[in-house]
Amino acid sequence: MIIGIPKEIKKHEYRVALTPAGAEVLVELGHSVLVEHNAGLASNFSDEAYSQSGAKILHSSEEIYAAAQMIVKVKEPLPQEYPLIRKDQILFTFFHFAANPELTQAMCKSNCISIAYETVQLENGTLPILTPMSEIAGRMSVQIGAHYLQKEEGGRGILLGGVPGVSPATILIIGAGSVGAQAALIASGLNARTFILDINLERLRYLNDILPSNVTTLMSNPQNIQSVARNADLLINSTLIPGARTPKLITRELLRSMKANSVIVDVAIDQGGGLETSRPTDHDNPTYVEENIIHYCVTNIPGAVPITSTIALTNATLPYIEKLASLGWEKATQSCPDLAKGLNILRGSIVHPALKNFSFK
Ligand SMILES: NC(=O)c1ccc[n+]([C@@H]2O[C@H](COP(=O)([O-])OP(=O)(O)OC[C@H]3O[C@@H](n4cnc5c(N)ncnc54)[C@H](O)[C@@H]3O)[C@@H](O)[C@H]2O)c1
Repeated sequence: MIIGIPKEIKKHEYRVALTPAGAEVLVELGHSVLVEHNAGLASNFSDEAYSQSGAKILHSSEEIYAAAQMIVKVKEPLPQEYPLIRKDQILFTFFHFAANPELTQAMCKSNCISIAYETVQLENGTLPILTPMSEIAGRMSVQIGAHYLQKEEGGRGILLGGVPGVSPATILIIGAGSVGAQAALIASGLNARTFILDINLERLRYLNDILPSNVTTLMSNPQNIQSVARNADLLINSTLIPGARTPKLITRELLRSMKANSVIVDVAIDQGGGLETSRPTDHDNPTYVEENIIHYCVTNIPGAVPITSTIALTNATLPYIEKLASLGWEKATQSCPDLAKGLNILRGSIVHPALKNFSFK
């Protein structure tokens, strides 16, 4: 199969969808890999490294989209890419359709095969491609929160870990999946008083066993959210219902009850965000203030650490790219149930159950 790797064009997106090591594996299997000029540069991978792996460098995304049977990307296609996508072309990338009706319509119109990284799902419910990016975003969410809590950034001016004789900050993490668990790990390591909430009691039981004693697990319900949020200096939202829009758990009224100049990092913004007041931001202008609370809602947090993220992403995607390239999407999704769950839009029809049931109105 001919596999195309375009350069990412989303603002401050420095990741690339395949490492040279990944390209070499695909070339050895007999596939052709086309990589756009300088696509890997920000992740520290030169055109030369891709050429040495057997990939061919093309100079424009137009050439990549025109030649490739499968496009492998990092982030969703942007409007300037929509016209380049061809009928029956496989697109394998993060889409987050539920947050983006315009993208959903464009992919339906193009009659392509949209397979979304974020809904590829193992039998045990875990999301093997989203997970490494979530681990990165989870770890970063605490360092981002710490930064914006500094006074000169408009924050409360509190040190997460406190010092001997002075109380540490309180961190509330809603959603104890991949993002939440990694956030809790870093938060507890920094000595913050950490609360992590989820609706999955088994998950809370597991985290209670493995995380240090400065992490308290709590069932997620409106009362618990309200009582911890009132005292929180940093709130991290990391809930997910796969394929669906993020549940809106944090109302404007709840924000009014929080301490002024505290910080919310809404990691789940890529699926719509969990606050009544959330709206997507980018790395150029990552924050805004509503109800005296700093909101950080960047949709591609791992894009800021591409050297780590690109390798972590290829580690997770490569086995699936191999299957799609060697078997074609039909046989690959028939033989691999986790990949079948990634099918979102098929030649103009929405096929993913969560997206099908979702109303954009
Ligand atoms: N902004 C970014 O750059 C970025 C990067 C990576 C991941 N994400 C997003 O972060 C979100 C979380 O990803 P993840 O990999 O941790 O997902 P996950 O599936 O591992 O975890 C989600 C958790 O949310 C819990 N949950 C669902 N409803 C809840 C509720 N009402 N209250 C409390 N918990 C609830 C689930 O039980 C689950 O444990 C996703 O939307 C993902 O797309 C964003």
